[in-house]
Amino acid sequence: MRKFIVVWVLCSSTSLACATEAKLENIRVDTNVAAVERGADTLMNSCRSCHSLKYIKYRDLVSFGMDKKKIDAWRGDQPLDAPLASSMPDAAAMQSFGLIPPDLSLMTNAREGGASYVYSYLLGYYTTPEGMTGNHIFPDTKMPDALGMSVTTELAQQDELRGKARDLVSFLTWAADPHQEERNRLGYYVIGYLIFLTLLLYVVKRQIWSRLN
Ligand code: HEC
Repeated sequence: MRKFIVVWVLCSSTSLACATEAKLENIRVDTNVAAVERGADTLMNSCRSCHSLKYIKYRDLVSFGMDKKKIDAWRGDQPLDAPLASSMPDAAAMQSFGLIPPDLSLMTNAREGGASYVYSYLLGYYTTPEGMTGNHIFPDTKMPDALGMSVTTELAQQDELRGKARDLVSFLTWAADPHQEERNRLGYYVIGYLIFLTLLLYVVKRQIWSRLN
């Protein structure tokens, strides 16, 4: 009974926590360059007008293997070493939303549920019977429906948005840890080297012992 009361109090005081737990859609992100690049494209067109990714530089996109021509189009006259800055000045954001939209560099690590949270949040927009826009995951969010889920009724178009959101969170997951692939690759080299070394030592040991026998 006491547990029930605690849960009830928590739920009524922070509707966010309970809504989040109830409705997250689990998502497996893609790690291939094509998907991450499509996600970057959507981010540049639909999110960067409000959000920055201050820990990611255009050069990181080049290193990951994205199309150089696309990167040049995204960065315009900014240098390769510039971070992905938002195009909205802080003062304008304060005026519109009363807060500065959060930086997205580490967003998939920052929220419980990670990529699944961001995916569900982006697709969680709906139109209420009164014609207002709501969000199932973050009911009081001040962010408008950037992908347009709340005004999309056709199933095929909704699927398209799901694909877009998936690519987008694949990009954000990469951005939160851009050197993971390199670390994995290094891991294979290290293991390969250790196996080689073990075999070599084994051969040496056999030679030495064959002389002693
Ligand atoms: C018109 C401005 C605007 C656009 C465009 C926009 N956002 Fe936001 N976003 C905001 C604001 C404002 C907030 C803060 C919401 C709040 O705390 O109420 C926010 C918050 C977020 C959050 C954090 C939610 C949380 O749990 O605190 C994520 C993730 C996010 N946006 C992702 C995106 C992505 C991805 C896109 C592109 C598809 C995007 N946003 C486009 C304004 C925008």
